[in-house]
Amino acid sequence: MGQYQRIVILTGAGVSAESGIATFRDAGGLWENHDPMEIATPEAFARDPGLVYRFYNARREQLRNVDANPGHRAIARLQREFAGEVFLVTQNVDDLHERGGSEQVCHMHGELRAALCLHCGARHRTESSFDHATPCPDCAVSGGLRPDIVWFGEMPYHMQEIDVHLARCDLFISVGTSGQVYPAAGFVREALAAGADTIEINKDTSGVSTWFHQQRQGPSGELLPRLVEEILGAGA
Ligand code: OAD
Repeated sequence: MGQYQRIVILTGAGVSAESGIATFRDAGGLWENHDPMEIATPEAFARDPGLVYRFYNARREQLRNVDANPGHRAIARLQREFAGEVFLVTQNVDDLHERGGSEQVCHMHGELRAALCLHCGARHRTESSFDHATPCPDCAVSGGLRPDIVWFGEMPYHMQEIDVHLARCDLFISVGTSGQVYPAAGFVREALAAGADTIEINKDTSGVSTWFHQQRQGPSGELLPRLVEEILGAGA
């Protein structure tokens, strides 16, 4: 393990799988029973808002019954103890990184426990279900609250900040993501262009595995704590 100064970690649904949250594209994953185009697009929300509210309300409710796993906690430990910089960017909309102890989490695909008002643009933290009838806590108008989730066809959040970190990282770690959804699937190439070492952790291969210097195959709840030990052991 080399010595590093600036690490970027990208996580996907696989990091939360051992907490009991279904991934999207594995067998039994969310997109096996739901067509993403019927749920996760602005057009789907315009066509059948009730369906979209129910889908995200159920997923928000599920967060009450799950907890962070050793993979989330290992990343938080690295952020606390590493002498250099560790920037965490996740495609996940759950809050398990935060519950695992991470203080900095960049949610590029939005958050389940947040609502966005299409009338006034305000964002609200919420752990409760909401729908068309729920008034915005800010402007009091109902009918405008939507899940604060980045849907297909929408621009992910925080892209400028993410690009800045990718352009200067010397180690890029990707965990539990299938490499099917861009721009996140392209981050490994940005990191390579910056001269970074690249490590992928996945229980399988991903669509972008061949871009990584190292591929570590297995559950992130086991492999992440081990990798974090190695990095901390090598020092910054
Ligand atoms: P996917 O469901 O596409 O991929 C999950 C990945 O995690 C797969 O490659 C699995 O092999 C791996 N995996 C599963 N369990 C694991 C474990 N215990 N340890 C390590 N790896 C494991 O999920 P994402 O790549 O996150 O976007 O999906 C990206 C985006 O597509 C999501 O953010 C979501 C989805 O459509 C939107 O909703 C806009």
